[in-house]
Amino acid sequence: MSRLAAVSIATVVTFSIVVGAHEKERLNQLIFHDQAGEFSTIAAAPTFEKNNPFFQSLGTNGRSCNSCHQASDAWTITPEHIQERFRMTRGRDPLFRTNDGSNCEGADVSTFSKAKEAYSLLLNKGLIRVELPVPANAEFAVLSTDDPYGCTSTPGTLSLYRRVLPATNLRFLSTVMWDGRENTVDQSVLQDLAQQAIDATSGHAQASTPPTQQQIAAIVAFETATYTAQIADRRAGRLDKSGGLGGALHLSRQPFFIGINDPLGNNPQGLSFDPKAFTSFAQFGLSDDDRSFGEECERRRARESIRRGEAIFNTKSFTIDNVAGLPSTSLKGNCTLCHDTPNVGDHSVAAPLNIGLADASQRTPDLPLYTLYCFSTQETIQTTDPGRAMITGKCADIGKFKGPTLRALAARPPYFHNGSAATLNDVVNFYNTRFHIGFSDQEKADLIAFLKSL
Ligand code: HEC
Ligand code: HEC
Repeated sequence: MSRLAAVSIATVVTFSIVVGAHEKERLNQLIFHDQAGEFSTIAAAPTFEKNNPFFQSLGTNGRSCNSCHQASDAWTITPEHIQERFRMTRGRDPLFRTNDGSNCEGADVSTFSKAKEAYSLLLNKGLIRVELPVPANAEFAVLSTDDPYGCTSTPGTLSLYRRVLPATNLRFLSTVMWDGRENTVDQSVLQDLAQQAIDATSGHAQASTPPTQQQIAAIVAFETATYTAQIADRRAGRLDKSGGLGGALHLSRQPFFIGINDPLGNNPQGLSFDPKAFTSFAQFGLSDDDRSFGEECERRRARESIRRGEAIFNTKSFTIDNVAGLPSTSLKGNCTLCHDTPNVGDHSVAAPLNIGLADASQRTPDLPLYTLYCFSTQETIQTTDPGRAMITGKCADIGKFKGPTLRALAARPPYFHNGSAATLNDVVNFYNTRFHIGFSDQEKADLIAFLKSL
């Protein structure tokens, strides 16, 4: 029996936290269903406990970190479950607070139908309103705001609508938040996570006093000890068997340090970039330990598809043009040029990049459009979210975001910082168009099968 098979399993179908511990492994595991099969979260005991401050209300509005970071959604929140919570609690779940849950601050939520309208971005796309000030010495000014909700915020600040990032697999981060704003002086991700816990408590949970040092330490310990990944696929079966190295247990053993596989040459050990950043499925389906299974043929085909998808992600080459943040305006590369952290997929160094998702041309009518004026170039730039530029104040950083970790994707649609891709199919189509990749239908299907298995 494999090591994982010996671990006791808690199958969880509600929002409550059920912990199944195994003495030998000292490992807790949570398993949930998602659209592709099952995914699991594991955590080293004793940090995976209900009484961790991550699950406690530390502020004044009844919210905990868990209000927006739920195990059932790979530690973010999905529209499907947000809508379910809205219906079940008639909009009274603490997630639904008008400080940042509604499209406008202090929105009228006095009736069910008014509340439904006020929380439309949260309900439809899982977006939270992040209000940030334009930095004092910004190289740009906000000329005008086209705001579909007519709630143009406090002068000098912008309302940005962003997906909740997963609060798991955080040991692999090189920067915290979509715009890397939790950037403390000593540039340590652990410090940034501590600062983030303080800011989330005063912001999202509207606390008047910060959490204690002990609470902060417990939250960061929890976040950096949990691993979440797809563990089973409906068609391909277990992803950690038959040569597969999928699932959270393998992920937990994955080495990481900042720059571990940096294509721009920042590896602290001087190692060169290996574009084959994903290796979990290189041998998947090549062993024959499951010949006795029924539907053997379909299973084998599904495994082959995932294996091919991984190879496409690692090796399919295309021209990466006009991405601000890369050293050249035109580079040959593949998905792993940007998603380079081995078997995780975020950037292994902090690398804010503009792949064009906040461009005016990508705007959907439910998002505001900001017109910025850059003083030195006298250029006007329209964007739905200036991203990193709201932190640095630099025009060159407009529209830049980090590449997030790519595990347990099937459990947490929609994708991208603004939830613009409803499905992984939409993600692949975005890239296919944006970089003129020319994927065949088979390549798309394989790539999606791979992404769903992460
Ligand atoms: C109201 C919803 C909400 C609550 C409550 C909340 N978060 Fe978040 N969290 C978000 C959003 C939205 C983002 C992404 C924001 C951004 O990048 O601009 C985020 C991002 C994060 C990240 C960054 C992950 C990464 O990959 O960079 C961490 C860590 C995190 N939250 C932890 C916490 C902790 C700890 C708490 C409790 C103290 C908490 N969150 C409470 C909505 C929430
Ligand atoms: C030029 C760099 C770059 C390349 C090349 C690239 N990505 Fe991305 N990827 C990013 C960035 C940056 C983001 C976050 C963008 C945002 O949300 O604004 C992202 C986000 C994603 C997400 C969404 C993750 C989430 O949690 O929402 C997926 C999935 C993804 N990329 C898959 C791919 C695939 C598949 C390829 C190859 C076809 C690819 N990427 C190529 C930079 C890149």
